[in-house]
Amino acid sequence: MRTTVGIIGAGPAGLLLARLLHNAGIDSVVLESRDRAYVEHRQRAGILEQGTVDVLRAAGAGERMDREGLRHDGIELRYAKKRHRVDFPALTGGRSVMVYAQTEVCKDLIALQLKEGGPLLFEAEALAVEGADTGSPRVRFRHEGVEDVLECDYVVGCDGFWGVARKAVPAALSRTFERTYPFGWLGILADVPPSHDELVYAHHDRGFALLSMRTPTVSRLYLQVPEGTDAEAWRDEDIWAELERRFETADGWRLQRGPITQKSVTPMRSYVHEPMRHGRLFLAGDAAHIVPPTGAKGLNLAVGDVVTFARALTYEKETGSAELLDAYSATCLGRVWQAERFSYDMTTLLHRAPDATAFEDRLQLARLERLASSRAAETDLAEGYTGFPFG
Ligand code: APR
Ligand code: PHB
Repeated sequence: MRTTVGIIGAGPAGLLLARLLHNAGIDSVVLESRDRAYVEHRQRAGILEQGTVDVLRAAGAGERMDREGLRHDGIELRYAKKRHRVDFPALTGGRSVMVYAQTEVCKDLIALQLKEGGPLLFEAEALAVEGADTGSPRVRFRHEGVEDVLECDYVVGCDGFWGVARKAVPAALSRTFERTYPFGWLGILADVPPSHDELVYAHHDRGFALLSMRTPTVSRLYLQVPEGTDAEAWRDEDIWAELERRFETADGWRLQRGPITQKSVTPMRSYVHEPMRHGRLFLAGDAAHIVPPTGAKGLNLAVGDVVTFARALTYEKETGSAELLDAYSATCLGRVWQAERFSYDMTTLLHRAPDATAFEDRLQLARLERLASSRAAETDLAEGYTGFPFG
């Protein structure tokens, strides 16, 4: 098998890249180790930055998003039983975000790819990337029990944090930057209309809580829990009681309960692998970097990477110049580190570390009061949340 761009992984990064390349007249093959149902049902975050919304629309993948997605013009910060709304359009010159689940983005892109794109092979596991620093890189993979080789001009590793692509960058050329957090998120899906029309980020002495949503009738809620917590150890009524405690306000706001249809625990980490390119191998999305979910940046970063790669390759095809491909890693990393900073700030602003001192507790409250009383501080949050421009 041979193609121009071999794409490993059919998460949002790989799927959107295949679509962007198809639109630019560049052929690709996508290899995905899991089956279609698995990819389409994996629960992930659901906030699309303004730039991500624009890219999906321009790629012809925004039709259902525009019909079913919920435009959000702000979020609420809740702390010390008080509520403070951050108004995105007013602070950013009209920018907002869209609530539309990552699984839905993946479903839309898979349907388009199968209808009019290049090959997308499910249950095709990449085993290794070879010859990354030669003119003809290859992906060895196994599909339906048979080993095969995909010969490429370029390989893009969109295979997530646990993938194989990153391993093809020699250790002597790699640098990694990492931070793990001593807590995770217990996330639930519940068949109940969201109790607030915007997302609520709550700071509480007992830990962080987040109210989010999937649709007007499905709520998504999270609780900060100790690292290593087993989701099944939490009874449904205990989850609701804890959510109620952490969201409590002085003005009598009520949290609506409903049947919990899913629960799981997500670990929290920050991670960056530099560089994001080695020869003709490019890393995109979670394969190169992880952010804690507090700022909802994971999917949006993946989109920024593949937009940068598609532009760079199109430029090379049109002009013969590899200038933008050569700049890929540096271009992406600028934005990646801004998102790392933003996600770290949001995480440390809102979570209670198990070893937090009384001094740190007071500082957190001072940071929240500052956000609630300074337009400059609020603008910084609003700009970060609605997203940094794609390079
Ligand atoms: N061969 C083929 N496919 C693989 C392999 C492999 N060896 N290893 C992993 N994959 C697939 C996974 O099954 C998954 O479908 O690569 C895909 C990677 O997708 P994601 O993990 O969704 O990563 P990405 O596309 O970069 O999207 C980033 O996903 O993890 C969230 O919060 C993150 O929202 C962000 C987004
Ligand atoms: C979600 O809806 O899953 C979600 C929303 C906002 C976040 C993280 C996750 O910051």
